[in-house]
Amino acid sequence: MNYKSILASQLASQLEGVTEEAIAELIEYPPNPQMGDLSMPCFKLSKQLRKAPQAIAEELKQQWSGHPAIQRVEAVSGYFNVYLNPTHFAASVIGEVLERKERYGSQNIGQGRNIVLDFSSPNIAKAFHIGHLRTTMIGNAIYKIYEFLGYKSVGVNHLGDWGTQFGKLIVAYKLWGNKETVEAEGIDELQRLYVQFHDEADNKPELEDEARAWFVKLEQGDEEATRLWKWFVEISLKEFQKIYDLLGVHFDSYAGESFYNDKMAAVVDELKQKNLLEEDEGALLVRLDDYNMPPALMIKKDGGTLYHTRDVTAAIYRKNTYDFDKCIYVTDAGQSLHFKQWFKVIELMGYTWADQLQHVPFGKVSLEGAKLSTRKGNVVRLEELLTQSIAKIHDIIAEKNPNLENKDEVARQVGVGAIIFNDLSNNRIKDIVFSWEDALNFEGETGPYVQYAHARACSLLRRANGGSDSIEFGGTLEQLDLSQLEDAPTQGLLKQLYLFKERVEQSMHKLEPSIISRHLVDMAQSFNYFYHECPILVDDQAIRQARLALVKCFQITLKNGLALIGLEAPEKM
Ligand code: ARG
Repeated sequence: MNYKSILASQLASQLEGVTEEAIAELIEYPPNPQMGDLSMPCFKLSKQLRKAPQAIAEELKQQWSGHPAIQRVEAVSGYFNVYLNPTHFAASVIGEVLERKERYGSQNIGQGRNIVLDFSSPNIAKAFHIGHLRTTMIGNAIYKIYEFLGYKSVGVNHLGDWGTQFGKLIVAYKLWGNKETVEAEGIDELQRLYVQFHDEADNKPELEDEARAWFVKLEQGDEEATRLWKWFVEISLKEFQKIYDLLGVHFDSYAGESFYNDKMAAVVDELKQKNLLEEDEGALLVRLDDYNMPPALMIKKDGGTLYHTRDVTAAIYRKNTYDFDKCIYVTDAGQSLHFKQWFKVIELMGYTWADQLQHVPFGKVSLEGAKLSTRKGNVVRLEELLTQSIAKIHDIIAEKNPNLENKDEVARQVGVGAIIFNDLSNNRIKDIVFSWEDALNFEGETGPYVQYAHARACSLLRRANGGSDSIEFGGTLEQLDLSQLEDAPTQGLLKQLYLFKERVEQSMHKLEPSIISRHLVDMAQSFNYFYHECPILVDDQAIRQARLALVKCFQITLKNGLALIGLEAPEKM
């Protein structure tokens, strides 16, 4: 049941010249239920209807013909306030959640159309640090949200596996590295070699020439260069995979920058043909002065290609391969100009789908009391952070619930969840400071808090099932005495479950997973209030069954929401 559309269609028939869509845009959910369950502010209609807002509201009230879902309406200070019929509302929410279960909140907006999501995309031979967590988890959440809303998501890991840095790494490895250490220490050692290269090149500039020469060899397919490069990629991917496994993230394609090596020439030719390339001191670039942007460099003086060249080529390839509705790039806000520039290049090439490309930027993460700089190699590695979080949660659980059976598994779910949730709980564009205290708190607006509410609901369901391991709810909607669900805490929780659907849709339109994480906190808070105010496992069967049904609906909805942002929902913790 969609109460917003019910109300919008009824009001549209009462208001001449105002469309249902326009009304739906205006309708709000007042924070305080005394001001109605839904409310339409009449201020914006005042000009068009040539009436004072309060007069519009009054008239709407007088002409209101009633609807079974709506108990009463009021006109107050320019607002038209609507009070839902509480049993009708309970029946509609509980009925829908029990019926749709793990699909509750989903819709078929996308009708199977493709969305390509370019996210995570770490650089080979560089540590996967806490900054990469953001692109990975924001991208993963958007991926799942689109799927939930009927699209086919295609997750692409555009690995940074090409570029002059590989020439440097080869030189460094040949001079100072050895196989055993690289094999034992992986990316740490590769990164150390890379740092050493820069330190030594300060005094020996000829090292840079050597590095360039090795990269040229690599580009020409030289056997030794290719073998070393492949090995660096393999070692890095093995480490990245460990993190993706911990985070529960998967990709449909690992076509990184090197994948486009043999595809760029054709695109550069096309740019030439379309008269977009200009020569500048031996380099080839697309001028973007008319759009107030610096030029997009496509070919370097030495003939090498660039980040831009690979992105333009990749976009064309993806359009041809996936015929996407949208191709979304999740990176830090620092890369905004890069994307603006090459999106424009695609447009200038005459591709009408340029407007289907979208950059989804996010703010920086810093760690309380620590630097995240890459230059000296002293980054906070994500794997370490996750391992620490799991260990800390393990300690907390051991204290809170010493008899819990699979502590390791639960500590992993909650420890990883805490880090992810912390990352997704603010608007993505905001810079965030990571703090252990904030992330792991069981009381704050955190992952553990939300997961704990889920476990609490599961525990109630198990107790209702005679202490078995089952969290099923046996009853059906028809057997419930819905008049038991009219009190304020219960209606408040129902409303949060109802709003979940809208929040999911909003989070897709705004590409903002934090809308879901914040709603999960709201739901958990409403549940805890309900739990506190309304005893559930009481002797009165009518009350008990009605409240248990709501507990089950809460458990289902919360779990669905957690899954969308990439968190598991342990049943015990
Ligand atoms: N490898 C880049 C980085 O770590 C991110 C790549 C984003 N995707 C893209 N198609 N440019 O900053």
